[in-house]
Amino acid sequence: MTSIIFQNHDEVESGLCQKEQYVEYHSKDSEGHPNAIMAEFEALTWEAAKAIYEGWLVHGRSAIVMGSSYGRLYPSQRNFVEHAVRGKVVHDLGAGFLGLAHELLNLGATEIIAIDRFEMPEATANIKRLQGYFHDYHEPIDTAFVSWPINWQDLGLLEAIDRASTVIYLGSNHDGNMCGFHEFWAHLRQREVLAHVPERRNTLIVYGPKHVEREELPEEHAALNTEVMWSYPGV
Ligand SMILES: C[S@@+](CC[C@H](N)C(=O)[O-])C[C@H]1O[C@@H](n2cnc3c(N)ncnc32)[C@H](O)[C@@H]1O
Repeated sequence: MTSIIFQNHDEVESGLCQKEQYVEYHSKDSEGHPNAIMAEFEALTWEAAKAIYEGWLVHGRSAIVMGSSYGRLYPSQRNFVEHAVRGKVVHDLGAGFLGLAHELLNLGATEIIAIDRFEMPEATANIKRLQGYFHDYHEPIDTAFVSWPINWQDLGLLEAIDRASTVIYLGSNHDGNMCGFHEFWAHLRQREVLAHVPERRNTLIVYGPKHVEREELPEEHAALNTEVMWSYPGV
């Protein structure tokens, strides 16, 4: 069961979800006015996934507490992603609820290979879902998409991006966030940067295949110099 809290009725009625797809519960403020609606989905449907993607808080599965910060592409970032994915088969590594997998298709990718260790929602035929671990996937990868990658060491993820010609990263190593792990960033740090679009909640970086000498990006600096992040003056 997946539950989603809506702040007010308008949000439900705006077409975010079809009424028949969930059971709804109302909570009321101290004056008795409805102030939130909880929708319980029987399964992890596309409607639930879309609501999650659009930033609703999700309760009910211990592994998932998502706010509005991840899984989002800003308009300023879309053109660069489109340029990188148009006409390509894209591997979405850690695809989660497939919100961005759908967006990659909308931006012109021909097929998405969505890999995640957790169950993913049902999807259209051009999103091929592979439930499993990165370290068990050994197929060639041309374009890898990694959005808000995990921040513990995972050599399977490192090997996957290492054999990709293009790596599209979306995430944040600022404001208390940490995406990826040291070896992941040490690898990307060597690659050429085709696009770098920092935004308020996340940064897009598109890496090409060549290894080059270049300036360190702030996102990379934050990831590779965590002692700067954690230390306090005089400590
Ligand atoms: C923080 S979530 C990001 C989800 C999605 N990319 C997004 O931006 O909304 C990281 C995802 O990576 C998946 N994941 C973590 N380690 C994995 C592994 N070793 N193999 C496959 N999937 C993994 C998790 O299950 C989770 O869905």
